[in-house]
Amino acid sequence: TEAAAREALERFIVDVPDFPEPGVVFKDITPLLADHTAFATVVEALADAGRDASGATVVDKVVGMEARGFILAAPVALALGAGFVPVRKAGKLPRAAYAVSYALEYAEATLELHEDAVAPGERVLLVDDVLATGGTVAATRELVERGGGTAVAVAVLMELSFLPGREAIGDLPLHSLLTV
Ligand code: PRP
Repeated sequence: TEAAAREALERFIVDVPDFPEPGVVFKDITPLLADHTAFATVVEALADAGRDASGATVVDKVVGMEARGFILAAPVALALGAGFVPVRKAGKLPRAAYAVSYALEYAEATLELHEDAVAPGERVLLVDDVLATGGTVAATRELVERGGGTAVAVAVLMELSFLPGREAIGDLPLHSLLTV
């Protein structure tokens, strides 16, 4: 499934130069999502990060990070028979939430997680589309662990190898389907 997923990514992800600003090449995953076979293939490959060698699910929750992480994490949660939990940008969650801020290039970002979304002792898989600087994943891990959960792995479609994402996430196992 990993080879098929890589093929689907290479075929359907579209590089958009100079978006959202000059010098940045945006990885547009919408053509991948629009193809049922490609979407199903990558969801299955991401879900493998939440299974042991015998194929049994080893996580209780799958966390997706706003916004593109939601699209991938929800079907992964269903495939694993686990719950789906959103990590949202500041001010979107309606009830008591943990908040973690982290530095962006010229600003700060804050992510939030409902305090009761992950129970103490629960095992959590993090799912997102891209690992770039790793700031999003590191902050999400901190949110999960604040409530007593354990982040067991992170699964992403793509890892940008020219950015220090791998170092930023420390010892959290990374399952990336494609390195670009
Ligand atoms: C993108 C991407 C990841 C994050 C990766 O999200 O979907 O969540 O950046 O970057 P990092 O590793 O440097 O943290 P973005 O903030 O653009 O949000 P969006 O999905 O809502 O557009």
